[in-house]
Amino acid sequence: MTELFDEYHSNYRDVVQSSIDFSGLPHSFFMRAKVDVLRELITKRLGSEKPAMLDVGCGVGSFHPLLRGLVGHLTGIDVSSASIAQARAANKDVAYRDFDGETFPFEDASFDMVTAICVIHHVSPAQWVHFVGETRRVVRPGGLVCVIEHNPLNPLTRLAVSRCEFDQDAVLLGAGRTLELMSKARLSEIGTRHFLLLPWEANLARRVERALSGLPLGAQYAAFGTRSG
Ligand SMILES: C[S@@+](CC[C@H](N)C(=O)[O-])C[C@H]1O[C@@H](n2cnc3c(N)ncnc32)[C@H](O)[C@@H]1O
Repeated sequence: MTELFDEYHSNYRDVVQSSIDFSGLPHSFFMRAKVDVLRELITKRLGSEKPAMLDVGCGVGSFHPLLRGLVGHLTGIDVSSASIAQARAANKDVAYRDFDGETFPFEDASFDMVTAICVIHHVSPAQWVHFVGETRRVVRPGGLVCVIEHNPLNPLTRLAVSRCEFDQDAVLLGAGRTLELMSKARLSEIGTRHFLLLPWEANLARRVERALSGLPLGAQYAAFGTRSG
């Protein structure tokens, strides 16, 4: 089956960049902010060990070079075979697989950490409970699930989504809805952090963002939870 993102495997970054050009910021700024959030979560929740990580909906693997040194073994899966082929060619040290979008192709408890970055808004809402349930199934007890999503309450996020050609069918979900899904999936110690509020990455800006991260202001949010027992 042809997937929507098969069409964008060669120009994914350009399409994203054109949707956020109005901000005057490069796509790399947004990616680094996400990686910083992941780094803090890993340190806080998993300690010093570099986690074996599964990145669900990894697309063309844009993030993966930025994760070197932060995670141990990295695996990426996606429903778009063309994106996976592109990711594989760019990142020789990452294990990639395409799959049918239903059951993640791994045994239970296979990973220390599972991420889904800007993916759920492309999944049919009827599948959301199952999708988050799968993230829990494949993470080990004590492991971490982290979902990063657009914040629908931020007007600039809405503008970017409206300008992005592959987001036309996106169904945005707020942090509260994602926490509900995580709670339904029996993840524990769940929480959220809003970020990408300020257009700078200096330490002071990051500290201000952290102080305000409980408010739904930033362009994106991370929702996270741990698999207990
Ligand atoms: C906006 S892209 C994000 C790609 C990458 N995570 C990033 O942030 O650069 C969304 C990705 O989710 C994938 N996707 C959509 N439905 C999916 C599903 N049910 N399971 C896994 N991936 C899915 C798409 O093929 C696409 O590559």
